[in-house]
Amino acid sequence: MTSSSLDLETQLSQLKAEAQSAIASAENLDSLEQLRVQYLGKKGQLSQVLRGMGKLSDEERPRIGSLANEIKEAIQSAIEDRRQRLQQAQLEAQLASETLDVTMPGIMRPLGKVHPLNGMIDQMLDIFVGLGYTVAEGFEVETDYYNFEALNTPEDHPARDMQDTFYLPDKNLLRTHTSSVQIRYMENHDPPIRVIAPGRVYRRDTVDATHSAVFHQLELLAVEEGLRFTDLRGTIKEFLRQMFGDDLKVRFRASYFPFTEPSAEVDVQWQGKWLEVLGCGMVDPNVLKAVEYDPERYTGFAAGLGVERFAMVLHQIDDIRRLYNSDLRFLRQFV
Ligand code: DAH
Repeated sequence: MTSSSLDLETQLSQLKAEAQSAIASAENLDSLEQLRVQYLGKKGQLSQVLRGMGKLSDEERPRIGSLANEIKEAIQSAIEDRRQRLQQAQLEAQLASETLDVTMPGIMRPLGKVHPLNGMIDQMLDIFVGLGYTVAEGFEVETDYYNFEALNTPEDHPARDMQDTFYLPDKNLLRTHTSSVQIRYMENHDPPIRVIAPGRVYRRDTVDATHSAVFHQLELLAVEEGLRFTDLRGTIKEFLRQMFGDDLKVRFRASYFPFTEPSAEVDVQWQGKWLEVLGCGMVDPNVLKAVEYDPERYTGFAAGLGVERFAMVLHQIDDIRRLYNSDLRFLRQFV
């Protein structure tokens, strides 16, 4: 054994001892990585020691080579052990800092509620569904045909003035009433039919305590053989009874609508005054003809109910605008 090989052996075992103790006391993953570079990197201490191998004889070189490999593996496995320990400790620290105290009081989030108008619509639909009606829907952007023409209201008809309309390009308009759904439904269904159609409608009305440019209606339509005005009256009265009980004062007043004959309006007594809540009548034969129903065979009745008006009467609201202001102090009063 030559002196240079003995020298190398000592250096290697010193390196091993030094590296192992440094690794064992590395405090975090960063300093561990620095140690890896320091000992095992291309320009690291192990490579430097091995540079001395050129001086060795051919017999010594393999022995020292395999010793160097052993030491390299020993350092690598020490680094790996330490890395796992440090990672585990890091995870434990993180888990400890993130523990959740389930006994702490929670944060109360405000609960949303159904808007009084939606609540009103639900309540009205429930009653009519109980009377055998099916819910249908139409479109808020309509054509002149569905909103007026098919409802026996041709272009120069004076009744068009009853409803100031928001017109859109291409003969479209914002529907002024849900009566357009009558036509759309009858076009696709054969009698007997019983439908109820809730929805938003638009009018160029001056806004005041009882008028809004956007409001909601519920359209009622029944068509079959042998329906008469007394059926309409009975249906409306039963609806109002379920809605308000027996005590509310109600009156039917003769009126006019182009799509019904005869026609009536229904008022209820509210804060000492009569308030109109719906229009109704027997479906005009011209409307039945427009959807190719035989008016000799079928009769029908229809009604348009003002949802806001019902909400105002039921909840004693004195100004329709309160329903649109989103004032939480007002809205919180409703279930
Ligand atoms: N569409 C009418 C309006 O908005 C209300 C109405 C009246 C609807 C009589 C009807 C009806 O279905 O038969 O003023």
